[in-house]
Amino acid sequence: MNEISDVIPLINQRHGTSWSLVRRLPGGYLQGAYEIRGPGGERGVLKWHPTDLPAPQLLAAARSVDRLHASGWPTARWLAYGTLPEGDAYIVEEFVDGVVPTRLAANGLDDLLAANRLQADMHPDTHQDWSSYIHRVVFDGEAGLVARMRARPVTARLLTRLEHLIEDARSLSLPTTDLVHGDFVLRNMLVADGSLRVIDTAHVGKGTRAYDLACLLLETTIEDGWADPAVDPRRVESECLSIIGGAGLRVCLVGRMLHYLVFGGGWQDYDPSDLVAKCGSFIERYEA
Ligand SMILES: Nc1ncnc2c1ncn2[C@@H]1O[C@H](COP(=O)(O)OP(=O)(O)O)[C@@H](O)[C@H]1O
Ligand SMILES: [Mg+2]
Repeated sequence: MNEISDVIPLINQRHGTSWSLVRRLPGGYLQGAYEIRGPGGERGVLKWHPTDLPAPQLLAAARSVDRLHASGWPTARWLAYGTLPEGDAYIVEEFVDGVVPTRLAANGLDDLLAANRLQADMHPDTHQDWSSYIHRVVFDGEAGLVARMRARPVTARLLTRLEHLIEDARSLSLPTTDLVHGDFVLRNMLVADGSLRVIDTAHVGKGTRAYDLACLLLETTIEDGWADPAVDPRRVESECLSIIGGAGLRVCLVGRMLHYLVFGGGWQDYDPSDLVAKCGSFIERYEA
């Protein structure tokens, strides 16, 4: 496998650029994000995906990010992208000189709802289908998340409740006409000059934009301090309901909750009791 220091010369050779590595940016996971610098001091960000981004998906995502940016969706533009001989994908993005927001204020929520509405009916031409993925995760055990939930008593008890929450929804097919970011949470945003920008766009695909709102709804409610008390999460919820209805929202929330609790490499390395308790309180209103 390539090292990041091998990847940059390959990119430069291919695109006729002279980027050099500055540092690994804090906050990412997996291979992460790197700050790079051009010969004139211009800043860029390199995202490197050794395994998780096949070429057709990368190309489709690049097209979607271009269209989103052109529509006014606040995001970092992709300056270059491609696939290396060993199959790893890279993306060179515009550097956003901002900070990851730690709290969502009311005007931030307005911006995010407006951005999310731009995602409606974009009909992205891609095989990255968030709606069918989420359906398979919750009903067919895809990605092993249901099995991971079962592996520990504390998450197994919550899983029983989650399964109950969606038992009438198996036959539901979520729409696939919108553009979906897939991880639409504050960790994937930056505030620059007072306005929010969405980053980490490599996995954009098709689906229902309500899934992105469900991510936002869950995580702004559960993560300590993420929502300003002036922010009313019901605004996000009612937008979801108007898009996909109650059963659709429950499927999206359950799918997201499984990711929240047991996705990624470190799922066994922490005690999930606190988060499970918060998730348990969060779903009470949907169990009624
Ligand atoms: N375009 C960008 N401009 C400035 N910083 C960025 C940019 N993209 C990513 N970062 C920084 O790198 C961190 C991780 O990026 P992200 O794309 O979310 O990676 P991961 O895929 O690991 O979640 C972000 O929190 C941010 O601090
Ligand atoms: Mg991220």
